[in-house]
Amino acid sequence: MAFHELHFKEAPRILSEPPGPRAREILELQTELEGKPVLYPRAIPLVPEEARGATVKDVDGNIYIDFYSGISVANFGYSNPVVVEAAVRQLRKITHTLDFPSKPRVELDRRLNEILPPELRGGVRILYGGPTGSDAVEAAIKLVKYYTKRSTIISFEGSYHGQTAMALSVTSSRKFKEPYAPLAPEAHFAPYAYCYRCPFKLEYPGCGLACAEYLRNMVEDPYSGVPKPAGIIVEAVQGEGGIVVPPDEFLRAVEKIARDNDIPLIVDEIQAGLGRTGKWFAFEHAGIVPDVITLAKSLGGVGLPLSCIIYRKELDVWEPGAHAGTFRGNVVAMVAGAAAIDFAKDSKLLDHVARLGEKALGYLKDLAEEISYIGDVRGKGLMIGVELVEDRDTKKPAKELALKVQRECFKKGVIVWRGGRYNNVVRLLPPLVITEELLMKGLEILSDVMRSVE
Ligand SMILES: Cc1ncc(COP(=O)(O)O)c(C=O)c1O
Repeated sequence: MAFHELHFKEAPRILSEPPGPRAREILELQTELEGKPVLYPRAIPLVPEEARGATVKDVDGNIYIDFYSGISVANFGYSNPVVVEAAVRQLRKITHTLDFPSKPRVELDRRLNEILPPELRGGVRILYGGPTGSDAVEAAIKLVKYYTKRSTIISFEGSYHGQTAMALSVTSSRKFKEPYAPLAPEAHFAPYAYCYRCPFKLEYPGCGLACAEYLRNMVEDPYSGVPKPAGIIVEAVQGEGGIVVPPDEFLRAVEKIARDNDIPLIVDEIQAGLGRTGKWFAFEHAGIVPDVITLAKSLGGVGLPLSCIIYRKELDVWEPGAHAGTFRGNVVAMVAGAAAIDFAKDSKLLDHVARLGEKALGYLKDLAEEISYIGDVRGKGLMIGVELVEDRDTKKPAKELALKVQRECFKKGVIVWRGGRYNNVVRLLPPLVITEELLMKGLEILSDVMRSVE
């Protein structure tokens, strides 16, 4: 099925300024019935009814071009008919099997192996756990702790790994963790190669990768104050941190430090993985080889919740039942995941992502020449961030402006999201099946909005 057949043809279409009358009614009911932590509708009053490909229709018939994929979940397109068909067939047969084997389960195992880089293919084990990304991170950390018999984990400034206890321990945001401190005590944070805001005020490549040197010191200096780690966990591109793309050399340095010191390297691919950056795994751009990979978000093909860890065979030291739970891989999600991988291969989705990613990045870099509050444009594939600042010299984050851009885009029929340490990065994560035409339409609306707001 060709990419252009997957979307609502009319996108974008605004019939009544959102929230329209039906949306307002439902939003009010939600406010009345659900708790305060509900977050997303506070930014934009979206009440989705149906979605196809890279387009979302709300209850009032407005149709939006989607540049966020439910945060990198709808990679293979909302309601992708190929994937939905497979999932529905399975839904009629059986959905829940604990970890009893089934054909769909081993089919997904096989496909995950096939998309791994050659150094890992056939040399790994897969473990499905609870349905969310946090569950996968939790499992990865437990595994490396068990394997090394150590307890310290090193993570990075700007990182996001989830909200359960262990995942939150290695997540950098103070806001999320302070109310629950102390979490896992031995979680330490090294500087990430966020070159636009280098904590050492240096410039790449003249910096000599001071951030990686800092990490080496944390690990190797007997007086660093950091016990020898059980693992280092890193995102190959930081997602929630503001689409921070480090130099490949940084990731290679992190890998080398881990290897030199016998520390398992966990690469969290929950947001950047499964094709988002134009490769199956974002770490492949740097040519590094993790010991543990975490996957979730788009793994369930059409937004069905599923997570897993993929780890080298040598780490397969847990006894049966050592990391247990009722939900250990929903079979419908597994079928959908396998169908999505097949769809991506058949349609050469990764090449499409790489090509459109270059195009979008070029377009936005040109826009940055014109708009003085764009501080930085960065990305890989269809994972793009536009960092907004009050002025380019001070780089003071323009958080309110990012929200304004998001809201104005929404009114004009484009859904973008925000992120970053200061919530001042406009994040673009469209479903990977977006057509060039829809992408360019969406970018034109975004650029018109950026020209009009201050
Ligand atoms: C890199 C990364 N790791 C882990 C998580 C946590 O995933 P979940 O929200 O499904 O628990 C996220 C979520 O955004 C993420 O981006």
